[in-house]
Amino acid sequence: MRLIVGVSGASGVILGYYVLKALRQISGMEIHLVMTEGAKTTLQYESSITVEEMEALADVVHDNKNMAATISSGSYKTDGMIVVPCSMKSIAGMACGFADNLLLRAADVCLKENRKIVLVPREMPFSRIHLRNLTTLSEYGCSIIPPLLTFYNDSNSVEKQINHIVGKILMQFGFETKDFVSWTGRNMIKS
Ligand SMILES: Cc1cc2nc3c(=O)[nH]c(=O)nc-3n(C[C@H](O)[C@H](O)[C@H](O)COP(=O)(O)O)c2cc1C
Repeated sequence: MRLIVGVSGASGVILGYYVLKALRQISGMEIHLVMTEGAKTTLQYESSITVEEMEALADVVHDNKNMAATISSGSYKTDGMIVVPCSMKSIAGMACGFADNLLLRAADVCLKENRKIVLVPREMPFSRIHLRNLTTLSEYGCSIIPPLLTFYNDSNSVEKQINHIVGKILMQFGFETKDFVSWTGRNMIKS
């Protein structure tokens, strides 16, 4: 399987790191990484993880300015794309087909080729513009997974919250992650 991971400049670039780590565990997975300049800036502000550490988890690292990269063409087959985290600027670009960098072009290609796209949009609160753009992308078939807090299954640490979000993202491609705790059900209590 060949997946593109786009990382843009929203808060929570660390989520991209954990998604890459989880994908790395899957045998036969070929990971193509494209990080925007915004992602690199945000990573610096928010984390001690370096760009190099992120890049080391990918099989192929693409320059966001390289519009001649493989993933810029529909003739280069991929199984889809995850954008994590996804800024509102990148959401806007995808929603209107404004593909002025490689991340946006790769997403545009996945859309036109009907390939799976999972978006992890991060902003709070969402404006109506954001919500309209997200609705548009959902109508085009993208899966929208905002990194929301989870309060079931003992998700009582940041690490567990991240594990849950990463699990939900990879679940979209049919993968199970080792630290994901799914809901096991409860019996109704009779009064
Ligand atoms: C520390 C930091 C945090 C940011 N957080 C967000 C965010 O949560 N959501 C968002 O849409 N933009 C956020 N931004 C702004 C984006 O980085 C900015 O709009 C950028 O142009 C996005 O471009 P890109 O999608 O090409 O990375 C943040 C910027 C910085 C420096």
